[in-house]
Amino acid sequence: MTTEPRDFTTIGVIGLGTMGAGIAEVFARNGFDVIGVERDEDGMTRGRGHVENSTGRAVARGKMSEGDQRELLGRIRFTTEMADLEEADLVVEAVVESLEVKKAIFRALDDIVAPSAVLATNTSSLPVTEIATANSRPGRVVGIHFFNPAPVQNLVEIVRTVVTEPAVLADVEGLVGRLGKNPVVCGDRAGFIANTLLFGYLNHAVAMYEAKYASREDIDAAMRFGCGYPMGPLALLDLIGLDTAYEILETMYRQGRDRLHAPAPILKQMVTAGLLGRKTGRGFYTYEKPDSPVVV
Ligand code: NAI
Repeated sequence: MTTEPRDFTTIGVIGLGTMGAGIAEVFARNGFDVIGVERDEDGMTRGRGHVENSTGRAVARGKMSEGDQRELLGRIRFTTEMADLEEADLVVEAVVESLEVKKAIFRALDDIVAPSAVLATNTSSLPVTEIATANSRPGRVVGIHFFNPAPVQNLVEIVRTVVTEPAVLADVEGLVGRLGKNPVVCGDRAGFIANTLLFGYLNHAVAMYEAKYASREDIDAAMRFGCGYPMGPLALLDLIGLDTAYEILETMYRQGRDRLHAPAPILKQMVTAGLLGRKTGRGFYTYEKPDSPVVV
């Protein structure tokens, strides 16, 4: 017997920063009612500003009419009260990357949302299982990992834990499809699919550079012209930020113990020396302006 996929209507989003505001926009764009929760008035104003700016850019580029923008914004209710999530049938948590903060939120949701609601975290690196078990219904919790910027990027990783109910997983996959995104499903391990593969590759490129096997330009050129990647790995690391990349690798290495993710020593040295990439003007390359590499 097959059951109909669940019809979600009201989506709660907690934390309206870089990711949460984008996630709220994606749901509202696709006709869902959204309840966006921030911790205070300032956060709420900033969150609303993110959505207004992002949709404003779509209007300026002729990709959205002003009427559609108004309707979209009208579908998002901004609030500072978690209790307003009472009507949500799905809640996506996108607050700071802190296990303690996320667990407190999942604990609090116990007394707020209906037992049938699905709960999700947008964490990039924390164990979904630990977040899920802070709640009394861990079977109804998944990871829904959007990519930045959420309105633009088409991949969504859905993370199942050992206790996720299969029907919940199927419902979330169906929902992500309704957003026009491509859902992929994986287990609960830091990095999920895309970052596990991507950061293993980036780390390998750093090790190659560190061993003086090839120059930075040639490493980057090989992947651009040989493999059709839009950027070489070292230029991409400068864009991501070497500190961020180091933290991601370190987290994956701690959890997975796969030597592919043991950060190349030079990465740590560059971070310590403040060579963080574009944001500090110097990483593997030197930048006069944020977007113009200069060979030195
Ligand atoms: P951010 O710092 O831009 O936004 C976090 C927001 O959460 C802030 O606006 C903050 O005021 C709010 N917040 C904190 N505690 C709260 C609470 N108790 N209740 C309500 N709101 C609260 O962070 P960002 O970059 O949006 O990341 C959010 C999550 O998404 C993290 O778990 C991160 O790992 C994940 N993520 C980030 C990506 C990125 O490229 N920035 C990509 C994919 C996932």
